Amino acid sequence: MPIKKKSSILSHKTKSITGKSNSVPKSLKPQQTRQIIRRFHVLQKNKYSILTKLRKIYPEINIDNYKELIHGKIYQNSFNIFQIPAKYSDNKIYKIDETLSITQLIEILAKIDSEIEQRGGIETYQSASTQGQTNKRGGDSSKKLIEWLRDEKYEDKLNNLTALEIGCLSPSNAITTCGIFKEITRIDLNSQDPLIIEQDFMKRPLPTAPNEKYNLISCSLVVNFVPLPKERGEMLIRITKFLKKATKDSLSCLFFVLPLPCITNSRYFDNDKLLEIMKSLGFTQSFSYEANKVAYWLFDWNGKITNKKFNKKELHSGSSRNNFCITIH
Ligand SMILES: C[S@@+](CC[C@H](N)C(=O)[O-])C[C@H]1O[C@@H](n2cnc3c(N)ncnc32)[C@H](O)[C@@H]1O
Repeated sequence: MPIKKKSSILSHKTKSITGKSNSVPKSLKPQQTRQIIRRFHVLQKNKYSILTKLRKIYPEINIDNYKELIHGKIYQNSFNIFQIPAKYSDNKIYKIDETLSITQLIEILAKIDSEIEQRGGIETYQSASTQGQTNKRGGDSSKKLIEWLRDEKYEDKLNNLTALEIGCLSPSNAITTCGIFKEITRIDLNSQDPLIIEQDFMKRPLPTAPNEKYNLISCSLVVNFVPLPKERGEMLIRITKFLKKATKDSLSCLFFVLPLPCITNSRYFDNDKLLEIMKSLGFTQSFSYEANKVAYWLFDWNGKITNKKFNKKELHSGSSRNNFCITIH
């Protein structure tokens, strides 16, 4: 595949998702950071919807591997022709619905892949997320976690703790520097540091012994990255399988962070719904905080899981709302 035109905000080179040399922004303005993150979420979500539809015809394909399609003429033509617009406001909005033919689905998939590559691949998204995390911009979200863990509530429970950080962008955030944890496992779909294991949490082997479980799991701004409501629910269920039971001198907690609009402006979701879902999975809210753009929670886990189902139901009407939702089946 040819290397595409590069975006003007790019400044150093890395390997893109298709293995081509491409560029990743080194320094971004806050507005650019938000644009990139938002666009990647939309593209990722569209891609999942397309592949779910195509899987009905090609059962062998999945999100990580659809070589059969990539090598086809329809995909190649569409990928090669596609050019990203100069302005983010001119970005294409795809409507992935039942009216699209197989050919159209493959063409849009190719355009999405081409756009991701031209924008520098997942590295660009991660770079934007990391820059959004800098102290100057409101900081590393795990600082909130540490502030809460230092509360007197947990005073006698900070012994020999282990932590699993899902979606870790930096091995030097507050989880690491606080000195509370004797061991930290950091994973990410796309590791940016040798101290971060490159791994999909949904494929991480389930613990077979208690010492493979953790006292604390951090899942900050990750669930909103997962495209489908059902998969978000599956991620929360899976998290419970990796938590140790609390004891009198150690805790069992989940640190959870979502973009604020997921609970304040969704047609299908809000804080009450989140708390209902979490309760059904054995979590009780210990602390919560709504900042300007993100919402934070610290949940204690009591191990009491019910089989309650949560479907996608409209809770709030209004045309300006988003469609964020988490379902449990
Ligand atoms: C917006 S970043 C959040 C990073 C950081 N935790 C924070 O709070 O700023 C989301 C990260 O989650 C990672 N991620 C998404 N799904 C994942 C999964 N299934 N397993 C591991 N990492 C995942 C992505 O690769 C991405 O780096």
